[in-house]
Amino acid sequence: MAKYEIIGGNPLVGTVTISGAKNAAVAILPAAVLVAGRCRVENVPDISDVRILLNILRDLGAEISQPEEGVVEIDCTEVTCTNPNPELVKKMRASYYLMGSLLSRFGKAKVALPGGCNFASRPIDQHIKGFVALGADVEETEEYVKLSPGPDGLHGNRVSLDVVSVGATMNIIMAACLLPGTTVIENAAKEPHIVDLANFLNTMGANISGAGTDTVKIRGVEKLRGGSYTIIPDQIEAGTYIAAVAATGGNVLVQNVIPKHMECITSKLQEMGAKIYNYDDSIRIISEGRLRGTTVKTRPYPGFPTDMQAQICVCMALASGGSRLTESVYETRFFGYCSELTSMGADIMINGKTAVVNGHPKLHGATVRARDLRAGAALVIAGLAAEGTTFVENIGYVERGYERIIEKFTALGAQIKRIED
Ligand code: EPU
Repeated sequence: MAKYEIIGGNPLVGTVTISGAKNAAVAILPAAVLVAGRCRVENVPDISDVRILLNILRDLGAEISQPEEGVVEIDCTEVTCTNPNPELVKKMRASYYLMGSLLSRFGKAKVALPGGCNFASRPIDQHIKGFVALGADVEETEEYVKLSPGPDGLHGNRVSLDVVSVGATMNIIMAACLLPGTTVIENAAKEPHIVDLANFLNTMGANISGAGTDTVKIRGVEKLRGGSYTIIPDQIEAGTYIAAVAATGGNVLVQNVIPKHMECITSKLQEMGAKIYNYDDSIRIISEGRLRGTTVKTRPYPGFPTDMQAQICVCMALASGGSRLTESVYETRFFGYCSELTSMGADIMINGKTAVVNGHPKLHGATVRARDLRAGAALVIAGLAAEGTTFVENIGYVERGYERIIEKFTALGAQIKRIED
């Protein structure tokens, strides 16, 4: 795999434009299976997870074109296959959304278990619980999940999630869209990409209300038609650039963001001493001098996102004083990067769900390895802030979720290049 070479120590200055949200795009594209008609989706990030998903959909029989940068036109009218290519499905996590969309449109699906970033055990029992409540028979093996109509047929129902799950909420929304009757999801996740999926589906003719609250109601409709939709900006990509400026120092305008979605992240960085200015669709971050330590606990939205845990840990490693970082969504996520940060001079002690970080004024360059997407992003930030040269290996993980990361950081004055192995 290729690696990044980063010569650290330059403050970041300039403007960066945020791409469309990965975790919205990877749900909206499989949701297009529900639509008998052409969907034009704008602000689609050009990342490897999206490319894999488009290949899965093409392979199922979808007609796909990309008439301009960031635009995908997808027409699933002619799709009849309900068994997506297992080799492609296993390459990413969000391929599990094909379970919900194929089940709703065709009444059946056989989908391999997903792959993707394995920083923790990532069960899908809540997705299955939802499909069963909607009347599906489920055959689950170590390789695949096979869904078919149960004895009473598929129908809307009430589903109360035992854990707040982004994936289960979105999969059940998709599964319920074309079923007769009303589905109510209780204890639903509230992330911005859930609202985005519901807005996309409603634009195509679905009847979904309550997305963004913990109770989502889906009234089944007979058919979805085509239409145009623009994906929201990526909250975590924006958070990653903001954390990078906080860590390296500098002054950057982060544009194409929804500042409201960023509050859970920017409020913590403000507490740490960064200056944040919110505008209509951009945020300026100015970071001068040393950050201060703080306490962070990850939580489902609107809490501090687990997908920003690793990036803020780098800020904590450089801050004055001690910090405590508690993970409440994926306990084992620290193991993806803390030892790598330690090899760059960070002082981090993991005690169960909490990392105790004792800040040091400097990190130093080292050769480190990305073990998942956000861990990789954090190592890039650490390399940009560190003295000397850092090599970040295994960057396929990073490129799953960050569009043109080298170009964007370079434009801010960073010294970063991709080296092919
Ligand atoms: N969970 C269950 N059973 C389930 C589903 C989830 O126990 O059936 C648990 C998980 O183990 C976890 C918690 O519920 O402890 C939350 O998991 P969730 O289902 O919300 O995660 P996900 O849908 O698999 C998405 C994002 C992740 C992000 C999480 C949490 C996508 C494709 N992935 O995963 O994004 O960390 O929500 O916000 O949307 C990333 O972008 O780097 C990434 C990993």
